[in-house]
Amino acid sequence: MDKKQEWSGILGFLIAAIGSAVGLGNYWRMPYLASQYGYIPFFIAFIVCVMFVGLPIMFVELTAGRIFKKSFIETYKKLKFPWPGYISFILMVILCSYYMVIAGWIFMYVVTYPFIVYNFSDLITHNIAPVGYIFVLLLSAIPIYFGVQKGIESFSKIIMALLVILTILILAIALSENPIPPITLELPTNLEIWIMALSQSFFSLSVGFGILFTYSTYIKQKTSIMKDSIVIGFFDVLIGLAASFLVFVLLGGVVSTEGPTLVFDVLSGVFKIAAIGWLFYLCLLIAAITSVISLLEFIVSNLQNYGFNRKKALFLTVVSFLFLSLPSALSYSSLNLSFMNIPVLDILDRYVIGATSWVGIFFIAFLLQHIKEEDFVKHLDAGRLGKPLYIWCKYILLIFGVVMAVVSTKFLIGW
Ligand code: PFF
Repeated sequence: MDKKQEWSGILGFLIAAIGSAVGLGNYWRMPYLASQYGYIPFFIAFIVCVMFVGLPIMFVELTAGRIFKKSFIETYKKLKFPWPGYISFILMVILCSYYMVIAGWIFMYVVTYPFIVYNFSDLITHNIAPVGYIFVLLLSAIPIYFGVQKGIESFSKIIMALLVILTILILAIALSENPIPPITLELPTNLEIWIMALSQSFFSLSVGFGILFTYSTYIKQKTSIMKDSIVIGFFDVLIGLAASFLVFVLLGGVVSTEGPTLVFDVLSGVFKIAAIGWLFYLCLLIAAITSVISLLEFIVSNLQNYGFNRKKALFLTVVSFLFLSLPSALSYSSLNLSFMNIPVLDILDRYVIGATSWVGIFFIAFLLQHIKEEDFVKHLDAGRLGKPLYIWCKYILLIFGVVMAVVSTKFLIGW
C-alpha cells in the first residue's frame, strides 16, 4: 500500500500550485497575445477574466478537492457520472504530450546556447530538437518519484525562488538598457480580445481539468481556499505581466502580428548581452517543467485507481509519453508530420485544447452541484462574501461556459 501523499504545509501547496500555474502560458502565450491585441487592452480584459471567471473556478476546484479527497476520475465515478473524469484525463494527456515538446525545444536551446548561437526557429527544425522532450519528461519524473512532499514540494520551493529572482534580474537589466516606450491607455472594445483573454485565464491558472483539484487533495491542514486562490492568481498574473512588460520594452512597444513565434524568435536576438537572453530561456524552462510536473502528477494519481502503485503508475506514464509525444515532436522536424498541412502540434493546441477549454467550466460546475452550500462557504472562508460567491459559482459561471462553447464551435467550423 502506498504512503498517503501530503504537502508539509500550506506554503508547500501554494508554491507547487503557483509552479503549475506559472508556465509557458505566462512567459510565451501571454506576451504574444498582448503584443498582438495591444498590451493595455489585453491586460485589462485578462485581469477582469481572472477575477470574475478564473478565480471562481479555482475556488470550486480547490474546495472540491478538499471535500472529495479522491482522484479526479474516482470523484466523478463516485458521483455516478464518470465522463468528465475520463474526458479531462484524455485532454490533460494531450496537453502534456505537446506541452512537453515545446518545453523540450527550450531545453535543447538552453543547453546548446553557450556553444552555438542561433535563432530559436532554426533550432526547432534542427535534427536534435525532437529529442528534447525526453529530457524534460525524465527531469520532471524525478520529483514525482520522490513523492509529493519530498519531491514536488522541495523541488518547487527551490526552483520557483530561482524563477522569481531571475525574472526580476532580467527585467531590471532590460529596463536599464532600453527606454520604456510610451504607454497609451486603450480599452478592450473588441469581442475577440475578451474571448482570447477568457481562454488565456483558464490556461494560465491551470483551472478546469482537475490539476489544482489533485493538488488540493494533498492538503492536510485547515485553510482558507479564498486566500489560497488569490495568492496563486496574484503570482500567476504578476509573472504574466512581468514577462509581457519585458517583451513590450524589448520590442519598443510595437504591436506585433508575429503570433506564437514572437517570443521564441525575436527575443533570441534582442538582448544586448547574450547571457541575459539565455537566462530568459532558462526561466521559460523552469516555468514549463513545474507545469509539466503538475500534469504528470495528475496522470499518475489517476492511474493509481487501476491497481498500480505510485512508482509503477509513474513508470507507465513515462514510457507512454515517450510514444505519445512523438507525433508532436516530429511535426516540426524534417519529417513535417502534419494533417491537412497543419503540423500535428498546432492541431492539438488549437483544435483540441484551444477549442475545448470551455468544457472545464461545466465539469467543475457539476462538482459544485454536489457540494452543500454550507460546506463550500466553510472551506472558502470568505466571510460575508461566501454566499454571493456560491451563487456566482453555481449559476453565473455557466453563462461563461455557454458563451465559450458557442464561440469555440464557431471557431471550429470557421467564423
Ligand atoms: N498554466 C500553465 C501555463 O500557463 O503554462 C499551463 C497548464 C498547466 C494548463 C496545467 C493547464 C494545466 F492543467
